[in-house]
Amino acid sequence: MIKKLTLSALAALVLSVGSAAAAESEAHIHDVDFSFEGPFGKFDQFQLQRGLQVYTEVCSACHGMKFVPIRTIGDAGGPGLPEDQVRAFASNWEVWDPELRDTRTALANDHFPESALPNAPDLSLMAKARAGFHGPFGLGINQFVKGIGGPEYITNLLTAYTGETTEMAGTTLYENPVFASGYIAMTPPLSEDIVEYADGTPATVEQMAEDVSAFLMWAAEPKMMARKQAGFVGVTFLALLAVLLYLTNKRLWAPHKGKEQH
Ligand code: HEC
Repeated sequence: MIKKLTLSALAALVLSVGSAAAAESEAHIHDVDFSFEGPFGKFDQFQLQRGLQVYTEVCSACHGMKFVPIRTIGDAGGPGLPEDQVRAFASNWEVWDPELRDTRTALANDHFPESALPNAPDLSLMAKARAGFHGPFGLGINQFVKGIGGPEYITNLLTAYTGETTEMAGTTLYENPVFASGYIAMTPPLSEDIVEYADGTPATVEQMAEDVSAFLMWAAEPKMMARKQAGFVGVTFLALLAVLLYLTNKRLWAPHKGKEQH
């Protein structure tokens, strides 16, 4: 028994050292209190609209979102734009039509275009591809409370530029401690007031970074709210079922229990 205990204590120690190393790489990522985190979190429609604006006016110059249908920006639970605005929005984009073998004006049913710059990754799933929070022990406890950390990663990435640059094989790289290698090929995309928000929110770099990160979380997981709700209903139902089963079990066995004594 003692041996077993010592062994498991040792295993726990090794694991925690491992997760401390993982935490090291997460050290640059500070938490952001997004509205959609936690078991009852919801997307903030106005934040998603602002994020869509930042994506459209800034990021889309290089990055695509080819897995996201344009019409979904009209979905309730998403940016929730009215139908006429969705159509008007779609007509701002050019997409490649394989039947015409040419580009044409996008319709609401088309997807967002691919990345305009070949080495800029597609952003459709980026918020899920880069999870920022892991430990302790990969149990997902952090993620339950703080979310997966993908949007935090993006927010931090966009705000962590130090202003230093370096040249490598003829390309300029920008120092950014959040990026794994410390230097990223993306020019700092945000600067104060680069967009003008219709709702009057001050367009600081931090604000735009958070808004576009929330928007990218929605793009990567548009049904998050429905999923959380279904999960909650499921857990409530199972808890109720457990109580009922416990009571049924008691009642069924009641006549047989303690019989020998009599
Ligand atoms: C001028 C072009 C350009 C613009 C504008 C731009 N990016 Fe990038 N982005 C890049 C390039 C190039 C890379 C690849 C960098 C690398 O691998 O070093 C990149 C990489 C990224 C990554 C991936 C980082 C990783 O961990 O791999 C994210 C996230 C990202 N950009 C988000 C954004 C967001 C959000 C915006 C808008 C606010 C934006 N970018 C605007 C060119 C751009």
